[in-house]
Amino acid sequence: MRHAIPAWIRILVIFLIIVGLTEFFIDSGGNFAFIEYPMLQVFLLVVLLFLIAAEMILAAIENIMFKTLSQEAKERYMAAHEERMKKYDLKVIYRKLMGTRPISEEGDLELDHNYDGIKELDNKLPPWWIYTFYATIIYAAGYMAYYHIFDGEDQVMEYEQEMLAAEIAIEEYKKTAPDLVDAENVELLTEPSEIEKGAAIYQANCLACHAPDGGGGIGPNLVDEHWILGGGIKNVFHTISEGGRAGKGMIAWKSTLRPLEIQQVSSYILNLQGTTPANPKEPEGEVWVEEGE
Ligand code: HEC
Repeated sequence: MRHAIPAWIRILVIFLIIVGLTEFFIDSGGNFAFIEYPMLQVFLLVVLLFLIAAEMILAAIENIMFKTLSQEAKERYMAAHEERMKKYDLKVIYRKLMGTRPISEEGDLELDHNYDGIKELDNKLPPWWIYTFYATIIYAAGYMAYYHIFDGEDQVMEYEQEMLAAEIAIEEYKKTAPDLVDAENVELLTEPSEIEKGAAIYQANCLACHAPDGGGGIGPNLVDEHWILGGGIKNVFHTISEGGRAGKGMIAWKSTLRPLEIQQVSSYILNLQGTTPANPKEPEGEVWVEEGE
């Protein structure tokens, strides 16, 4: 009872400080630390119980000490205590913030007007309203200084910065993500390991129609210089990924093979150029000449 601040406020404040500290020191990304780490909830609960227990022990000790006081000292103590506690009485706080005056004092507030019997009171603005209003003025001053004097970042700038960061991130991602190859940016692979992977894909999917050595069968010869749908890595990639002409039997492989795999098998086929298959099919299509050659 000796304390100026009620126990529940003390407990709340200390507890919130501890929660704040955990948030400050534990890196939990965008989430609250106690949501990210459920163990922390247990810890905080124990802390809370401990704080309550400590307050109860303190209160018990004070109670014992209180009993040792003389009757007169007890009365003085109680009076002072009650006076202090009024500050924290929610009813008192509420009445202060509303600034209302008891009905018995209304006579003092009455204005001189008399509108056909309707009288008007001259109530002061409630303190909560006044203080909120002052707060908006202070906020506005800070706002104006930040955005109009010191050129703080506004939405447009933030948007542009985020877009820029995103573009950089996309470029980074493209560099490391081979699955983003398409007919526009595909390049011929020359690494033997890549060609081998392409060969494996070819053996698994393509030899039935194009023959194991690319000499052709149902599908055209893939090792000669003639191409129906265009030669070069870009056209070959496009044909394999999107398929041949309708009804000819060459399906679009993009639903089966990943872009990187199409790039590998395309590179494998082009690597076969100039070899001599066992039973070459007659050339079909035009002789392909790479642009710029
Ligand atoms: C069911 C048979 C069949 C399978 C399986 C098949 N193809 Fe074809 N392929 C064809 C036919 C038919 C054509 C001719 C398409 C056209 O004329 O439009 C063709 C065309 C092609 C062409 C274009 C040739 C040119 O002259 O322009 C390429 C490249 C090709 N196939 C690669 C592949 C690859 C790689 C695979 C395996 C992933 C494969 N094909 C699987 C039947 C097949």
